[in-house]
Amino acid sequence: MNLHRALTSLTLFLLPLLIHPARKGAFASVNENQIQAITSYVDPLINPCDDYYRYACGNWANVHSNEQYYEVTSLMDHKVNKRLIDYFQNYQLEGSSEAGNETYTDKLFLYYQTCRRTKSLQLKRYLQLVRPSSHLDWQLMLEVREPNATWPAERFNWLFTLAKLRRYNFKGAFIEHILLLDVDNDSNRYLIDLDKPTDKLADEIVIAALLIELGVERARAIDVAKQLHKFEERLLILRDIADKRGPQSISLSKLKDEMPEVPWQLYLQLVLSYTLTEDYEVQINNREYFRALNKVLENTEPSLIDNYIMVKFALFLMKDSADNFTKMDCMWDVRKKMELAVNFLYKQQFYGGSDAKYIADVERIFNLTRREFSARLKNNRMKLLPNQLEFLQSKLSAMRFNIGNLPASADERFIDKYYADVHIDPNNYHKNQLLLLKLRSRKEHDQLTAPAPSPSDYYFISDGDSCTPYFLFPKNLVIIPYAFLQPPAYHVNMHDIMKMGIFGFVLTHEIMHGFEYSGVRFDSSGITDWLGKSILSEDEFVSGFECLSYPKTDSLDERAADFMGIRVAYDTLFHPNSSMNARQPSFTDITPRRLFFLNVAQFFCGNLQPTFYEHDADDVRLRQTLKQFEAFTLEYECKPGDAMFVEKRCELY
Ligand SMILES: *[C@@H]1O[C@H](CO)[C@@H](O)[C@H](O)[C@H]1NC(C)=O
Ligand SMILES: *[C@@H]1O[C@H](CO)[C@@H](O)[C@H](O)[C@H]1NC(C)=O
Ligand SMILES: *[C@@H]1O[C@H](CO)[C@@H](O)[C@H](O)[C@H]1NC(C)=O
Ligand SMILES: *[C@@H]1O[C@H](CO)[C@@H](O)[C@H](O)[C@H]1NC(C)=O
Ligand SMILES: *[C@@H]1O[C@H](CO)[C@@H](O)[C@H](O)[C@H]1NC(C)=O
Ligand SMILES: *[C@@H]1O[C@H](CO)[C@@H](O)[C@H](O)[C@H]1NC(C)=O
Ligand SMILES: [Zn+2]
Repeated sequence: MNLHRALTSLTLFLLPLLIHPARKGAFASVNENQIQAITSYVDPLINPCDDYYRYACGNWANVHSNEQYYEVTSLMDHKVNKRLIDYFQNYQLEGSSEAGNETYTDKLFLYYQTCRRTKSLQLKRYLQLVRPSSHLDWQLMLEVREPNATWPAERFNWLFTLAKLRRYNFKGAFIEHILLLDVDNDSNRYLIDLDKPTDKLADEIVIAALLIELGVERARAIDVAKQLHKFEERLLILRDIADKRGPQSISLSKLKDEMPEVPWQLYLQLVLSYTLTEDYEVQINNREYFRALNKVLENTEPSLIDNYIMVKFALFLMKDSADNFTKMDCMWDVRKKMELAVNFLYKQQFYGGSDAKYIADVERIFNLTRREFSARLKNNRMKLLPNQLEFLQSKLSAMRFNIGNLPASADERFIDKYYADVHIDPNNYHKNQLLLLKLRSRKEHDQLTAPAPSPSDYYFISDGDSCTPYFLFPKNLVIIPYAFLQPPAYHVNMHDIMKMGIFGFVLTHEIMHGFEYSGVRFDSSGITDWLGKSILSEDEFVSGFECLSYPKTDSLDERAADFMGIRVAYDTLFHPNSSMNARQPSFTDITPRRLFFLNVAQFFCGNLQPTFYEHDADDVRLRQTLKQFEAFTLEYECKPGDAMFVEKRCELY
């Protein structure tokens, strides 16, 4: 029977009666599905006090053995991709390329389609489309085409070539030029930051293979790869030169006096397509490096420098492009290249009318967790001074969140305008990729001159690859991607215990970034403050972090955010006066506290295949977080001697 038709044929009078049980059904199923999934991942042969990760996640890899994702966050990204793929399956263009009135959704579709139609990456095409300058080809490309021609080295200028490539968002050969918010004076203002690069050159064999693909003869390709590595060794020595002064603001005219050999002003003019005045200030690091670099480059064959830049640029584009050209890969690529458009479309298509309900619920959780942390601060376990406490409280109360990384006032017109200059070529993926990279770089640089957006209209120009929430220090802002607002992390109808286990825990983790070692110095508007910095040397703060640094980790701040995040999320839920529902749910026998911990574990479950950036591996994180937490050891009755029990517990806040 067609339920949909039956429903729509009912009178308005009857409708409210029907909606109630329908909602209840949905309510039950999201919770029941979650319980079923959680229980299917448990390995009952493992004692939770021995290894909670293997207990809660031991079967995850078996259950998901035939899937393309390898842990919970990639599962959620996968679901988003699938939804968007389905949406574009039968998509009809609204405007047309000929009339030049394609809508932003048309552009998403066209880019997706050109990606799907691509059989393989043609590196040569990129290098034909973008050359060192308009009157000069890449040396190796010329060599391949006309073996006997002479490459006009005198036309080559490494700095101007880098300026041209920076417009395609390429950074990392000789210079790293990025944009930073001025956290010293005005966190609404962007600074151009110039520094030495930190990346690594690809292996010789990778470079040789790339050159062979470009048509370079095998022996020559191997030879060039060797030369580049030798060159890289010399550059690495330069990178070791110490930066005595650290980052400093300097006007272009002063920079010119100090370093006349590097025409920075001209470089920036080429990147920006307008001229900066002589008194314009940029932030420079590692001046000694740049001076030494210039000397080395003066004594290097221009063709070698050209080869070096070309190889790095080609590798950058390869890494940036869709891996393969499957539906999934292409949708990944679309999301990464056109983040604003995808987020807006997602909001329109998949949130639609329920947007307000989600926002209100996220706000409820955000407010309650903040209130809980605020009460904890008032207890002042760390014996902070009244003005330090006041500083932390005002920062906490000024903290905000943004769902979907969209400006609050964004509408269709705004999004269409944002992409107005992008006209997707239905037959040329490579060109489109370059167009979108160029747009990204331009939009980023536009922030240098644009008036500061209001806090609610701020959005972060990212590289579009996070589905989990993140915290922006200079904005005192938590960004919550749409991908995270779905099961298993969250559903508006989920029971509070489950909501707090993943979503609440992760949200609190992000809030806590404002209070850990690197974060505490920023004030309520994201500016570094002496009062914030003064907390760094308070005894209890120092000893708390010292305690957390065992066992050794490269991501102490992440550990601190987990450590606090789980406590605050737990207390928010189980506090005797909590307005949240922490009562035994009817849909399971698992006790509320165990259910909470099992849900926390879901965020970390996976097959442990991926590498973890800036965090410990997921299993290490979960064990470390829980064994430090008294409420956990009490609930599972873990005892001294158990792996999930530590004698010496750390304290922070
Ligand atoms: C685009 O232009 C064509 C031709 O002028 C018109 O028929 C079509 O309605 C326009 N579409 C949009 C979305 O503006
Ligand atoms: C290039 O030069 C070599 C020797 O100088 C000559 O044998 C060869 O024919 C030339 N090739 C082309 C394409 O002109
Ligand atoms: C911040 O402002 C102070 C003076 O108010 C100035 O001395 C300093 O150079 C500025 N810093 C930056 C990064 O602009
Ligand atoms: C690319 O996709 C094809 C077809 O789905 C698959 O056979 C191949 O293994 C994939 N390659 C990579 C590198 O993922
Ligand atoms: C959350 O807190 C803010 C500011 O304190 C308040 O304006 C808002 O109404 C609260 N929202 C909810 C849902 O509690
Ligand atoms: C809960 O609220 C009551 C009444 O407002 C208060 O007396 C009590 O101290 C609160 N309990 C806790 C643990 O805060
Ligand atoms: Zn974090």
